[in-house]
Amino acid sequence: METLELLVRNTSEVLTVEGSHTEPAEKALTPQPNACVGVRRGKVWYVGPEGALPPGAVGPSTRVIDAHGQFVGPGFVDPHTHAVFAGERAAEFDLRTQGATYLQIAQAGGGIVSTVRATRFANEEDLIRLALPRLQMMLEYGITTAEVKSGYGLNLQDELKILRVVQRLSALQPLELIPTLLCAHAVPEEYREWREAYMDLCIREIIPAVAEQGLARFCDVFAEQSAFTLAEARRILVAAQKLGMKPRLHADQLTSNGGAELAAELGAATADHLENVSDAGIRAMAEAGVTAVLVPTSTLFLRVRPYAPGRKLRDAGVNVALGTNLNPGSAMSENLPLAMGLACLENGLTAAEAYWAATRGAALALGLNTYGRITVGDPANIVVFSCSNYRHLPYHLGINHARIVIKDGHVV
Ligand code: NIG
Repeated sequence: METLELLVRNTSEVLTVEGSHTEPAEKALTPQPNACVGVRRGKVWYVGPEGALPPGAVGPSTRVIDAHGQFVGPGFVDPHTHAVFAGERAAEFDLRTQGATYLQIAQAGGGIVSTVRATRFANEEDLIRLALPRLQMMLEYGITTAEVKSGYGLNLQDELKILRVVQRLSALQPLELIPTLLCAHAVPEEYREWREAYMDLCIREIIPAVAEQGLARFCDVFAEQSAFTLAEARRILVAAQKLGMKPRLHADQLTSNGGAELAAELGAATADHLENVSDAGIRAMAEAGVTAVLVPTSTLFLRVRPYAPGRKLRDAGVNVALGTNLNPGSAMSENLPLAMGLACLENGLTAAEAYWAATRGAALALGLNTYGRITVGDPANIVVFSCSNYRHLPYHLGINHARIVIKDGHVV
């Protein structure tokens, strides 16, 4: 018989994460005590007791990984990042330590548009060089798939440039990237007095060009007083939806404005942030099957309150996913385990719910049905951890517990 390429053995347990968000998360993680995982042709071929492996499955060419009695789970999926950008905003961080708010900094010419200036100035090679170490760090944390948004170009040529960079980066290194168009991230400086003209540019030029070139799976809008109104968000997302992009929304982040309700109305894949989501918004998301993507690192980083009501969202039956929101302004952090810790401490999730949110919950948010779990026949995206169970991830706060990361059957 064809032998295994890879065997991960001697585990405390393998979390296959094959359940659903509607059952208790501890059950949904579907632990297989002391199981091993066999990989063939980049796919999971076997999960179960080592003693039940068919004779001949392990041969001289099989790479055997000893988990040293620690636990194994699926590669993390990060469903919300802005990982491609130039420049940095450390001075803004320092201004916030002295009491300035995110909005005040934006109104004074900092914020998103300052990253737009730097990103427009960079060419594709610069952006690739700057993003590679961030992606490497994410991989080291055990993230094997991540969504990346545009949104720092805010004109046709620079939005296309960022999305081409995302495509090139995905081919250049092992972390798989899922692209999202975010041309409605902010109104660019040169259109400040001409909002309607920028809406036109998005709807008539940027969205059609991105759709034609197949550069984005999702289209996202920052729906907020300081960015786009709900009516504008609806127009952008309807236009993108008509051309095959699935809607997503930065919703109810700084103020409660009905973003979650709009996400439900449009049948969006996700509503993200949700710090100020209303009870009606939660109900609407549950009914429409919209995933909530929580990004508590930015709530911490911006020094705002409240944290998103993760507990209420789960209890209402919403699938809850968790992202880093890696970006230079509101969350300069690749650390998804830190987000898991914050999700437990501040969003009201249990450790099992946070683990679900960073694996299967996030994969489903991105429509990746064969990701975020360890199931026979699925791509072998696997992490061998340096601790005996998943509770140590939020508990030993902000530490990297991933020891070996496997993407499509390759140790990376
Ligand atoms: O998801 N809220 C809007 N977008 C980002 C922040 C981007 C930035 O400040 O550069 C977020 O938090």
